[in-house]
Amino acid sequence: MTSGPHTAEQPTLNKDVPWDSFDPGAYIGNNYLDMKTVDEEIVSRVRDHFSGRLRGSGRVLSGIDVGAGPNLYPSLAMLPWCRNITLLEWSANNIRYLEGQRPDYDGHWEQFWKVLREDQEYRDFNSRDFFSEAAVPVQGSLFDLCRADTRWDIGTMFFVAESITESLDEFRRGVGCFMHVLKPGAPFAAAFMEHSEGYRVGDLEFPATYDIDIAEVCAALEGFAHLDDVHRMADVGHLVRHGHTGMILVCGRRKE
Ligand SMILES: C[S@@+](CC[C@H](N)C(=O)[O-])C[C@H]1O[C@@H](n2cnc3c(N)ncnc32)[C@H](O)[C@@H]1O
Repeated sequence: MTSGPHTAEQPTLNKDVPWDSFDPGAYIGNNYLDMKTVDEEIVSRVRDHFSGRLRGSGRVLSGIDVGAGPNLYPSLAMLPWCRNITLLEWSANNIRYLEGQRPDYDGHWEQFWKVLREDQEYRDFNSRDFFSEAAVPVQGSLFDLCRADTRWDIGTMFFVAESITESLDEFRRGVGCFMHVLKPGAPFAAAFMEHSEGYRVGDLEFPATYDIDIAEVCAALEGFAHLDDVHRMADVGHLVRHGHTGMILVCGRRKE
């Protein structure tokens, strides 16, 4: 077998990484303090997907954001329809961050909420009250979802399956575990870094699966899901999330 710079024979696996030392403040400073154009587009598309599927259905669902980390916008996007939202996260630091956001989330998340509020479904309630009632941080691993009996009505997974390992096998398994816990018909949104070489948060380097492109993402999802919107965004000029070529957003529904 040939081995180039991105096909290491011994890829860094999820278990090899000191996730508890993930620095949420540094990560937010890099990514979410000021809303990037690419995130604005992601939030708009996810909003339209969820409201198109769920408009008028009320606040009855259970949601899950897998590998939530220090990003509230996926759970804010599910908020109008969710009685509870499980924020599944492996890192102790990130769990602490999420617990701290529950009573009253930080002001910079309002930029994302403003984009969501462009749709009527997000207007007639107080997002802070709903978030603090619904959000439940849970420390656990994406890979353990494959053995879980619980199923959720709606789900998100943003920059996780490909951003926690260098192994393509682990990436595929991670996507399958996310799909495993969605009920038949459940709407979901998932985002992936394309051809990422890894990323730095504070003083630490984190792994990514290099071989990720639209074809690989679709192949990992297709057996499980109807893919309603597969969209690639070139991340031109965004030097902070270094070493990748773009982002891929998939909005779909779990197959029956
Ligand atoms: C690149 S961050 C993405 C965070 C967030 N979803 C976002 O959109 O910015 C990857 C996240 O996955 C978490 N993580 C790493 N291994 C995990 C695992 N096995 N199960 C669940 N989460 C994990 C990390 O702690 C981190 O919060």
